[in-house]
Amino acid sequence: MNSNKRPENMVRITTKEQAQTFIDQQIAEIRRQVGDKKVLLALSGGVDSSVVAALLIKAIGQQLCCVHVNHGLMRKGESEQVIQVFRNEMHANLTYVDATDRYLDKLAGVTDPETKRKIIGGEFIRIFEEEARKFEGVEFLAQGTIYPDILESDGVKAHHNVGGLPEDMHFQLVEPLKLLFKDEVRVVGSTLGLPDEMVYRQPFPGPGLGVRCLGAITRDRLEALRESDAILREEFAKNGLAGKVWQYFTVVPDFKSTGVKNGKRSFEWPAIIRAVNTVDAMTATIEEIPYALLHHITNRIVTEVPGINRVLLDLTPKPTGTIEWE
Ligand code: XMP
Repeated sequence: MNSNKRPENMVRITTKEQAQTFIDQQIAEIRRQVGDKKVLLALSGGVDSSVVAALLIKAIGQQLCCVHVNHGLMRKGESEQVIQVFRNEMHANLTYVDATDRYLDKLAGVTDPETKRKIIGGEFIRIFEEEARKFEGVEFLAQGTIYPDILESDGVKAHHNVGGLPEDMHFQLVEPLKLLFKDEVRVVGSTLGLPDEMVYRQPFPGPGLGVRCLGAITRDRLEALRESDAILREEFAKNGLAGKVWQYFTVVPDFKSTGVKNGKRSFEWPAIIRAVNTVDAMTATIEEIPYALLHHITNRIVTEVPGINRVLLDLTPKPTGTIEWE
C-alpha cells in the first residue's frame, strides 16, 4: 500500500480473521519492500510502535532493529514489559537504552513546560541517531504512523520525528499501519499475540511522566509520581475501571503541605488524581469514581508512597482544564 489515502472500499478490520488477512498481505508487502536489508524502529512500547514491531518481527525477524529508549519518564514496569514481550517472548533484535540519567540531568532545574517538552523530544532524536549510527546496512525506518496521523498532520509522528534526523541519514519509510484507524490497529495487535495490557492501554503522552511531575523534575518526586500512578492503575484495573475510563493518572505538584504520619509531623507533596472521559481529547468530562474506591486508593498512596501525605481529586472538565496539567 503506497498511497496515503484509504480506499473507499477498504474493509474496516473488526475481526481476527480480517486482521489475519491484513497481516498476511502486509508481511508479503514488507518482505517485497525490504528484501534482505535492515529496518530500524523506535519502539516506545505504545500501541502503534508495538504493533509495527510485532508485524515486522513476523515479516523479517532479525532484520528488524528495535531501539527502546527509556527516558526515565516511563510508568512503572513499562520498559520492563517492552523487554519481556519483544526480547524474551518474540526474540526481537532489541537495543535497550537506559537514558534516565542523561534526561534527568538535562531536565534538572527546568520549570517551563514547553522547555521541558523540547528537551525531552530533542534528546530522544539525539539518542536515536546515536544508536542508529551503530547499525550497519540499515536502509529503512519503520514508523507507527496510523491513518489519523495522516489526516490530522503531515503524516509523521512528532515523537518519531524523521525530519529531526540529520540530513546524512537517509531512510526509506516502512509504515504498514498508515491506512488503519486506532481500533483496527488494536485488533491487528491482538491477533499478532500482543498482550491486552499493551494493545488496549490508555493514551500516554510522548514526554511521559515529565508533564505530570510539575515544575522542575526531581528524582524523588518523580518516583513518588511513578508509585502513586502505579497504585491508581492497579486499583482501576482491579475494579473494572481500566477499560472504561479513557485516561487516568496522578500528578505530583512541586509544593508541600503539612501533615501527620506515624505520629510525627510531615511536610510532603500531595498526589492529585485525574480520571477523564473523552471522544477526541478536545473536550473531556470527569469520571465519577466511587467514594469507597477513592478512600482505598488514598489510603494506599499515603501509606505506600514515600513523600506523599495527601491525595486530591481533580474535578475539572476540559475546558477549563486541559487533560494534562502541563
Ligand atoms: P491536553 O492536556 O492537551 O491533552 O488536554 C490531550 C491529549 O493529548 C495528550 N498529550 C500529549 N501527547 N505529547 C503527546 O504525545 C504531548 O506533549 C502531550 N500533551 C498532551 C494527553 O495525554 C491527552 O491524551
